[in-house]
Amino acid sequence: MRTGARHSLAELYRPADLVVLGLGVTIGAGIFSVAGRQAATMAGPGVILSFMIAGIAALLACLCYAELSSTMPASGSAYTFTYVIFGEVWAWIIGWALILELQLAAAVVARAWGELTVRAIANFGVQLPAPDLVVDLLVLLILGLLAATVALNARIGLRALWVMVAAKLLAIGAVIVVGAFHVVPANFGDFYADPKPLDEPSTTVLDVFLGQSHAFGWFGIFAAAPAIAFAYIGFDIVATAAEETVNAPRAVPKGMIRSLVLATIIYIAVAVVMVGMIPYTRISLDAPLSSAFRGVGVDWMAHVIDIAAVLGLTTVILVLLVGQTRVMFSMARDGLMPRRLATISRRYHTPSRVTLVIGGIAILLAEFAPVSTLEQLVVMGALFAFMFVAAGVIVMRRRMPHLDRGFSVPLSPALPALSLLATLWLMVNLHVITWVWFALWMLFGLLVYLGYGRRHSLLAAPRPAPFPDAAPGRGRHRR
Ligand code: ALA
Repeated sequence: MRTGARHSLAELYRPADLVVLGLGVTIGAGIFSVAGRQAATMAGPGVILSFMIAGIAALLACLCYAELSSTMPASGSAYTFTYVIFGEVWAWIIGWALILELQLAAAVVARAWGELTVRAIANFGVQLPAPDLVVDLLVLLILGLLAATVALNARIGLRALWVMVAAKLLAIGAVIVVGAFHVVPANFGDFYADPKPLDEPSTTVLDVFLGQSHAFGWFGIFAAAPAIAFAYIGFDIVATAAEETVNAPRAVPKGMIRSLVLATIIYIAVAVVMVGMIPYTRISLDAPLSSAFRGVGVDWMAHVIDIAAVLGLTTVILVLLVGQTRVMFSMARDGLMPRRLATISRRYHTPSRVTLVIGGIAILLAEFAPVSTLEQLVVMGALFAFMFVAAGVIVMRRRMPHLDRGFSVPLSPALPALSLLATLWLMVNLHVITWVWFALWMLFGLLVYLGYGRRHSLLAAPRPAPFPDAAPGRGRHRR
């Protein structure tokens, strides 16, 4: 910890904790439901390639995050990097995009958690009355419980995370091993299903440019990649733990890269067994992984998958809440949000106030907004930040070539430039409606900045600051 002020976060995480944090937040709805839906509707067995494409884009972005977090180990992640490199307005824009990503993701995954839990209970033969109402109550329960955990005691949250991540990995290991015994090579076909024109009108930005929309074939494989990118969201959240990490400049890059590589291997293995067990046309949209096991007569695996998914999504929500808390805490500490939100509780030693606010907003979103259809908006928020982080690496290399970096992206500026392109490619494969919602959100954010943030900013100097102690959020603020 840098200062004794009530606006600094205490060191908590060791390198292994960061890997658990990364796996905790990454492995969730993406592999348990998005993957199967994309295989069935867009990519066929080629979903394995979609996972590889999205994984390469995520890895490139992760290397860029790793370099910047090794030089600016503060809790704001991309928001802080942008502040230092591009100035306050851009930082606000990225902070606003991160809020969209993390806050919405917590609500999306909490809703999915409620639905999954009800299905898991039904699969055990218990028919619940009024299942929709039960989902609503479960969403309230899980978000309330996890927000309270994050608000009251960081160590309890970390211990619970270790246990749940271990259990989730064991269950996913069972999926891979048992599934491998039932893979039939014929189900891979010639790896990509024949392209089919979509009946519906064009929906992605690329479709609009090309004037047509197809599913399956190479086009479908690429088109599925941005949806699959949802599964990779999480490594970026590890960067928000930097301020609370022992020896952050070296530990954070390693933790981020290791957790992403492990998640990528796990994803590809699960995707291979899923599309290898049954023809992709028989994968159910409601319970994709379970349907593959039921299809080969291993019904009991559906229960293992249910348990893994319920645990898996719990840890995703937990770490999303932690990450969102840290980003908003950093923005409040810099004066861009109400400063009261950047207070560490004397009693609990956590940023409890901002955590409860974030938990409350997540509950409202998950209960009253159609969040199940807003996954792409989460991806958009994340990709937008990826672009600035990649550009930030290139700018910093020019501006401060001799800066002591705990981690350096190899082959810079080629790899950061490639990261920019890969991110852009995923973005143009998102739906036009997603772009429209995102533009509206950002416009609203700019108005909030002009109306509040600009006037209350404590730093108010958009010039790049020297490194690393002058990075926003490292205890240089007026109190
Ligand atoms: N990557 C996270 C998930 O798949 C958001 O649930």
